[in-house]
Amino acid sequence: MPAAFALLLAGQTKDIPGTPPDYRAPSVDYAALPKVDLPAVKEVLANGLARTPPMGWSSWNRFGTRIDDKTVREIADAMDASGMRQAGYQFVNIDDGWEGKRDDTGKIMPNANFPDMKALATYVRAKGLKLGIYSSPGPRTCAGYEGSYGHEEQDAKTYAEWGIDYLKYDWCSASRVWQDGEMRAAYQKMGEALEKSGRKIVYSLCQYGRANAGEWGAFTGGNLWRTTGDIGDRWQSMAEIGFSQSALAKFTRPGWWPDSDMLEIGNGGMTTIEYRTHMSLWAMIAAPLIAGNDLRTMTPETDAILTNKDVIAVDQDKLGKGGERIALHGDTEVWAKPIEHGDYAVAFFNRGEKQAEVSLKWADLHLGEKAKARDLWTHENLGSIPYGFVARVAPHGVVMLKVWK
Ligand code: GLA
Repeated sequence: MPAAFALLLAGQTKDIPGTPPDYRAPSVDYAALPKVDLPAVKEVLANGLARTPPMGWSSWNRFGTRIDDKTVREIADAMDASGMRQAGYQFVNIDDGWEGKRDDTGKIMPNANFPDMKALATYVRAKGLKLGIYSSPGPRTCAGYEGSYGHEEQDAKTYAEWGIDYLKYDWCSASRVWQDGEMRAAYQKMGEALEKSGRKIVYSLCQYGRANAGEWGAFTGGNLWRTTGDIGDRWQSMAEIGFSQSALAKFTRPGWWPDSDMLEIGNGGMTTIEYRTHMSLWAMIAAPLIAGNDLRTMTPETDAILTNKDVIAVDQDKLGKGGERIALHGDTEVWAKPIEHGDYAVAFFNRGEKQAEVSLKWADLHLGEKAKARDLWTHENLGSIPYGFVARVAPHGVVMLKVWK
C-alpha cells in the first residue's frame, strides 16, 4: 500500500466508525491540484525556542480525533492538579481532528468541537500552560482533515492570533504532492510563515524518520523532527523505536530534538516496568516528553513515572546531548548520556524475558577508579562505588543512574 494511503488509514483507526459528526474534508483530486510554489532552500534563523526538549501532553495517543474543547480544558486542569505542570510539563497539544472548513477568505475555522480557539488558548495560558496545534503541509492531514497546503502564511497568522505556542506539522498527504527531496523546502515554507506570524511558535516536523530531517530540519526553523513511524502502546513498538535512536545523538542539540513520538505511559498496554523503560529511554535520547494518556484519570503509579524529577532532569539537561548505546550483550544494553558538570546519566536495559545482570566499568566513561552514583528510580544515593557497577535488571526493565566523580 502506498505510504500516503497507509497513513490516511492509520490516522482513521482511532475514529469509532459511524461516530457523528464527521468533520473530515472532502477528498482531493491530486492529479488536478495546482502545485504550490516552494521557496528556494536557505538557512532560516533559529527561533530560539525549546532550549531543552519540549514537555507537555498531546491528544492523539489516547483520544485520536475524538477530541474537544472541554476535554482539552480538563486536561489542562489535570496537568496542574497532578503536579505535571510543576514537574515541567508545559504544552497542551491538540493533534489531528480539530480542523473545520475554511471561511470565504480562506481562513481555517475549527470544527464545532472547538467553539473558540482563542478562548481555549487563554484558558490554558491562565493555568501557566501553553496551547499547541496540528496541521499538514499537504492539502489533508493524516486523518483526512483540512491541511495548510497553499494557506501556510494565513494559517501561521491565524495560529498566532489564537495564541498558539506549538505547531506539529505532519507530512501526511504532502507525499502525494511532493517528493522527499522537496520536503525541506515545504517545511521551510511554514518555518518562514511562523517566523513572520509575529508569535514565537515551537515548530515540530513530523515526517516519520524520512529524508534525513535530522540533518536539515533545524534550518527550516524547526525545533524537533520525528524519527520513526507511529508508536503503539505495546512493548514491541516502544522498544523498537526507543532502542533504535542511538545514532541520532549526532544531530541533537539545544533547540533541535529527536522526536521519538508521544509517550504511551499510562495507556494500559504495557507494564509499569515497561513504562519506566519507556520514560528512561526517552530521557536518555533527549526526546520531547509529550504524555499521551488521559491525565484526568491516571493512577498515582502513572503520575509517579511521568513526574520522576530525577529522570526528567536527564531529559532536560542543559548540555542538550543525546544518549548513546555504549554496550550491547545479547538482550542487554548500556546507554550513557553526558550531562552537565562532566557527569553522566547511565541506563542499564534488559530487553530479555529473564532477569539479567548488566555491568559497566567506570573506566569506560573515563571516570577513573571510583565514582559516586544515584539511582534515578529509587532516588537513593549509592555513595562512592569502586571500579564499576553491576545492575540486576528485571525483564523489560531498566536501572538508571546518575554517575559522577
Ligand atoms: C500521523 C502522525 C501521528 C498523528 C496522526 C494524526 O500518523 O504520525 O502522530 O499526528 O498522524 O492523524
